[in-house]
Amino acid sequence: MLNPKIQDAFNKQLNAELYSSYLYLSMSTYFELKNLAGMANWMRIQAQEELLHAMKFYNFINERGGQVILTRVEGPSTQWDSPLHVFEDTYEHECKVTALINDLVGLAMAENDHAAGVFLQWFVTEQVEEEANAQTIMDKFRLVGDDGTGLFMLDGELSQRTLPPPTSATP
Ligand code: FEO
Repeated sequence: MLNPKIQDAFNKQLNAELYSSYLYLSMSTYFELKNLAGMANWMRIQAQEELLHAMKFYNFINERGGQVILTRVEGPSTQWDSPLHVFEDTYEHECKVTALINDLVGLAMAENDHAAGVFLQWFVTEQVEEEANAQTIMDKFRLVGDDGTGLFMLDGELSQRTLPPPTSATP
């Protein structure tokens, strides 16, 4: 039996993860239109990861006997001023998601729901990585500035990203 407050908050987070996927797919499209295929690839993989995050919440709500309630997913931005701006938005967005996850951890503790608390620990760790990844790439963009060769090399680096296979350690 899932506590109604946890169910409501987890459904909201499911929606937030779907929005994250939408946002990164929109960013991928931005790069596709600029023929920056490596950056488009990085964002496409990011969008796929966010879908996996959403499905973790979906599965947890179901497993606990709760009801998944899918609500409208907001449309993300479609325009950015520069590749750097895209990664600045990515970093800011991940910081917001971290705050949402921290609020959920606080709620799980307040509601004495230890299963939810343990489930959320994966996301706490994941957010450290999400913020660090975005920050590293943002810093590299700031370093190269408008230098075409630097941007070309960054595009090549980001083309290497692949979707990691699921592990038994992930809920
Ligand atoms: Fe699902 Fe990027 O956090």
